[in-house]
Amino acid sequence: MAKTKTAYVCADCGADYPKWQGQCEACGAWNTLSEFVLQPAKSAAGNARGAGYAGVDASSVQPLTQIAGEMERRHLVRIGELDRVLGGGLVEGSVVLVGGDPGIGKSTLLLQTLAALGQRLSGLYVSGEESLAQIAARGHRLGLLLEPIKALAETCVERILEHAISEKPRVLVIDSIQTIWTETLTAAPGSVSQVRESAARLVRFAKETGTCVFLVGHVTKEGGIAGPRVLEHMVDAVLYFEGETGSRFRVLRAFKNRFGAVNELGVFAMSDKGLREVPNPSAIFLSAHTAPTAGSAVMVTREGTRPLLVEVQALVDQSSLGNPRRVALGLEQNRLAMLLAVLHRHGGAAVYDQDVFVNVVGGIRVQETAADLPVLLAVLSSFRDKPLPEKTVAFGEAGLSGEIRPVPNGEERLREAAQHGFKRAIVPKANAPKKLRIGELEVIAVERLRGAIDAAFGAV
Ligand code: TYD
Ligand code: MG
Repeated sequence: MAKTKTAYVCADCGADYPKWQGQCEACGAWNTLSEFVLQPAKSAAGNARGAGYAGVDASSVQPLTQIAGEMERRHLVRIGELDRVLGGGLVEGSVVLVGGDPGIGKSTLLLQTLAALGQRLSGLYVSGEESLAQIAARGHRLGLLLEPIKALAETCVERILEHAISEKPRVLVIDSIQTIWTETLTAAPGSVSQVRESAARLVRFAKETGTCVFLVGHVTKEGGIAGPRVLEHMVDAVLYFEGETGSRFRVLRAFKNRFGAVNELGVFAMSDKGLREVPNPSAIFLSAHTAPTAGSAVMVTREGTRPLLVEVQALVDQSSLGNPRRVALGLEQNRLAMLLAVLHRHGGAAVYDQDVFVNVVGGIRVQETAADLPVLLAVLSSFRDKPLPEKTVAFGEAGLSGEIRPVPNGEERLREAAQHGFKRAIVPKANAPKKLRIGELEVIAVERLRGAIDAAFGAV
């Protein structure tokens, strides 16, 4: 094989250098250079074409209406929650990145996926982390039908592709992409350039052969997938596995999906027989209080295509530190800082000398702004040591001037709360139905934070 040329490219500004250096001379950033393969112009053009879908090689301009008939081909995995997150099954030739903390169940899920696809779509499980004996032992313990699944312990992408070309699996699992390296680069396996280049090879392979490829990706401390962001751009779908170590529930979230809705959630429970689906998860993220407790508020979040009842807990306590702690678990830290400022200014509660901890029960992450109002109410409830009235839900976005803004799908959220026996809902005015009542659920429409606080704790 001819020696491939490589260059060191700055991830920030794109300047390139023949040798590695600590600082980019062009933009002054430190430690942003990583090694990339230089493609000769001709083969680079060939690759660019190969990276597209089969059939676009002969480039020609066509009216869209004439090509619309060619729908992507999908296969149901028959693990309902996974199919849901994928947007209705696995698309042929698609590349799906599955990220998550170690031990959350990525390998388990993908082994179960291959077993569920069984004879319909042959699978090849490539492991760079566990031995084949470990994988087989897990499969047996889970009672999976291992018959059609083949496994390979290999980390060199060139050799993996050789095997894939001769075995012709329809589904290829790479566990994990951080262990894979290519011969064309001298950088260490796991480095940004190795991960990126190996992933690019696998993506090209998927598009050229129509093989479905699952890439397992480790998550960094910051919560992103280790390796460059480009990994997320290269693949068709990015699914994140979330959950608390103590909790048996696991949430699979579509963070990006070219073939379905983003933020779609699939809910699983880890059992001794692997991951089980939780097809009706609406109320599992509520803790089982017998009496109303201070610092707890229930919200209706709507991640993906279905509403979920989720409990937000807050603990506000006198701080002994000069710089009080603000800790948000399952929510965005900066958002919490903003909400506390809004609470001070428009809710009259000064928490600047208090430690504030906010947690979403069950290890689920809530990314939508509809969590603002319940977070504010939970914080205030803990601060005043006064529980919210029983069977109350809330949702709504808080603005900097203290207004409570509407969120999408208000009515659907309210119906979900009514169905689960909630009696009162504090919601943005524009989300309230005209009749202010859904079944047993009384809807309290508020325009400003003040109104919401009065509705929750009674006017003072
Ligand atoms: P694994 O799939 O190896 O996680 P990842 O690939 O994301 O690192 O999951 C391992 C964890 O799941 C481990 O802590 C044990 C637990 N587990 C069960 O509780 N039950 C099971 O049936 C299996 C296979 C794993
Ligand atoms: Mg694993």
